[in-house]
Amino acid sequence: MDAISLTVNGQKHSVEVSPDTPLLWVLRDTLGLTGTKFGCGQSLCGACTVHVDGEATRSCTARIATVAGRSITTIEGLSSDGRHPVQQAWLSDQVPQCGYCQAGMIMTTAALLAKNSAPTDSDIDEALGGHICRCGTYLRIRRAVHQAAAKHSASEATAPLPAPAGAGGAR
Ligand code: FES
Ligand code: FES
Repeated sequence: MDAISLTVNGQKHSVEVSPDTPLLWVLRDTLGLTGTKFGCGQSLCGACTVHVDGEATRSCTARIATVAGRSITTIEGLSSDGRHPVQQAWLSDQVPQCGYCQAGMIMTTAALLAKNSAPTDSDIDEALGGHICRCGTYLRIRRAVHQAAAKHSASEATAPLPAPAGAGGAR
């Protein structure tokens, strides 16, 4: 077995596993990042969703060899303090019931908002349509996505503007 390098939540790792090993099992079993869940193992439920180079990706069917050298973000790395706008909206709307599906829902929502800061109901349904929640939190999720979008836009609006070229800075 050759060592495979990958970056997870900003940290570089080298893992010795078969190239066919699903990313999900490397995250959970090798790296101990158990926030990402196993549901179906067939890309059908969304529970295992992480970001690979910013794209929402089903880790249960992503072979580790295909993500070598790429940047992976799991629910543990979405924010340093649990205050990503999506996480805040999920808490304030009390979205989770059992919680099992929610890491995947949150990761897909964060990827959606990074591309589309004001998604419509149909944008949300399209992005999250492949996610299954046995507790039936779908309506709360849709409401929380809108709330997260509003927080996301507000945080962008209040972020400091980049300094104009040539202004300040060490020379
Ligand atoms: S466990 Fe990956 S989509 Fe269901
Ligand atoms: S909150 Fe229980 S499966 Fe979705």
